[in-house]
Amino acid sequence: MSESSSRAFPMSHDDLLSEIRPNIHFRHFTPDSQIKNAGVVIDTYSARLDVFNTVINDASPINVDPFLHAMTRMSTIANGYMINAITKRLNPGGVYLNVGTFEGFTFFCGMAGNETRHCIGVDNFSQFGGPREKFFQGYRRYKSKKSEFYNMDYVKYFKDYHKLPIGFYVYDGPHDYDNQLNGLKVAEPFFSSDTLILVDDTNDDVVRNATLDFIAGRTDKYRILLDEKTAGNEHPTFWNGIMLIGHNG
Ligand SMILES: C[S@@+](CC[C@H](N)C(=O)[O-])C[C@H]1O[C@@H](n2cnc3c(N)ncnc32)[C@H](O)[C@@H]1O
Repeated sequence: MSESSSRAFPMSHDDLLSEIRPNIHFRHFTPDSQIKNAGVVIDTYSARLDVFNTVINDASPINVDPFLHAMTRMSTIANGYMINAITKRLNPGGVYLNVGTFEGFTFFCGMAGNETRHCIGVDNFSQFGGPREKFFQGYRRYKSKKSEFYNMDYVKYFKDYHKLPIGFYVYDGPHDYDNQLNGLKVAEPFFSSDTLILVDDTNDDVVRNATLDFIAGRTDKYRILLDEKTAGNEHPTFWNGIMLIGHNG
């Protein structure tokens, strides 16, 4: 792509991370805390353990948005804050693309307060009961003139619809090896010279290996900026692990 040399962020990846990561603190459970059945605790008390557990020292909409706090999600407030803060730092008009929205949490976290950023979500609602209605209820709240949602398979989306350089890419679609790798490969031709890529569920070997295979032998082009592991899935810190990768193209 001709635009792929354009920069997505007005600052270096290291400077950006140093503005964001130190703002995240955990009250009680830290990423290495062993918690049995974290998901059950969340369901039983219908309160979000991660909301209680997380302190964000930043004036972020993620701190104060009751709709986001109450959402059913496969992610956490800490991950959502990072998504919001990275999207906020995109150059005006920059593109945040989220493959795999489910009810919308990771997508809406990027959109909240970031109406001048171009936010794109893609989901075919093929998993976890396909919560289409719930998604659209939430989408109506966060929608802006610059947001788009594609209810379709992500491969089809990239093949037939996607055009713009991507500044920030969150792949949270199917996490089997082939899709995890392909989800990065199909997006790659659209990466800007300094795209940030966030992948979650990186505690799982399959996800980790596919992601590492994607960047293997290309340390001049891709750098792992953050690799947060947690003691288990559904963890009220960084969920099932996250990795942030910087593209230097
Ligand atoms: C782990 S969930 C996403 C969780 C979400 N990011 C959140 O904040 O809660 C994975 C999503 O990927 C979607 N998905 C699965 N296969 C897909 C495909 N081929 N194309 C697009 N979306 C897909 C599923 O419908 C599901 O909603």
